[in-house]
Amino acid sequence: MDLTVAADRAALDKARDELGPGRIALVPTMGALHEGHRSLMRLAREHADHVVVSVFVNPLQFGPDEDFSRYPRTFEADLRVCEEEGVRVVFTPSADDMYLPDRQVEVSAGGMGGVVEGAFRPGHFDGVLTVVLKLFNLVRPDVAVFGQKDAQQLALIRRMVADLDVPVSIVGAPTVREPDGLALSSRNRYLSEADRRTALALSRALRAGAARGQTAGPAGILDAARAVLEEAARFDPPLLLDYLILADPATFAPAGDDHRGEAILAVAAKVGTTRLIDNVVLTL
Ligand code: PAJ
Repeated sequence: MDLTVAADRAALDKARDELGPGRIALVPTMGALHEGHRSLMRLAREHADHVVVSVFVNPLQFGPDEDFSRYPRTFEADLRVCEEEGVRVVFTPSADDMYLPDRQVEVSAGGMGGVVEGAFRPGHFDGVLTVVLKLFNLVRPDVAVFGQKDAQQLALIRRMVADLDVPVSIVGAPTVREPDGLALSSRNRYLSEADRRTALALSRALRAGAARGQTAGPAGILDAARAVLEEAARFDPPLLLDYLILADPATFAPAGDDHRGEAILAVAAKVGTTRLIDNVVLTL
């Protein structure tokens, strides 16, 4: 079946009508598609009859000192990926089509949007939730798929859907990694070979923490992960840690010694000019 590229909302409406009956799954992306995005598309197909992918580098979720203007844009290659994965519609709106010049109203991610990743990226999650709600309203999917790689984003989207009664089922997808452990990210293409060696410390630290398992408790898990990150702070280029946290996966509040059940070990760091995040889910 053919892939339709819809570059604005009128074209999207038409493409959506032409899909005919059946459930629709949406995979929102910012393009520069890689195996992680492909895995979301495959999971989406298991949950619906038709898969719609959006490719939109959302200016609202980038801070003034972040990489909006240099964010990789690989449109032709992205279309090939979608075609190979059996996607029916790719929605690629322009920023002008998405945001009215006199717009006022945004989604607030609340307190949960200001902790952990949100503490380092003020306003980021408001921008994410605003665009995701708009995409839901435009595409009107039954299901939407998001990666566990962006764990706080996934938790906040679940929160938004619950708090605002958004009629979309949210499916979380496991993180896809390179054979050496590096979590796939569109930003990995910024990494030089030396950067990449340093960047491996993120996933290595998470494995070291996870290996301490239940018996070590939160402090032991964090100590094991921190030791790996401290070593990498002496590499060339150095790993510059933003945070390492063991958190409740639903609220992103720190998991204390009395925490039981799932906990998320999450890390963010800069390597050269590239900021990377990663996480693993543990059971305490
Ligand atoms: P983007 O970074 O392009 O990611 C799109 C989706 O792919 C997200 O759900 C993300 O969690 C998932 N993803 C990224 N790397 C992954 C990996 N290695 N394994 C599995 N899934 C992975 O996240 C965004 O875009 C934006 O914030 C968006 C939700 C599109 C809103 O603008």
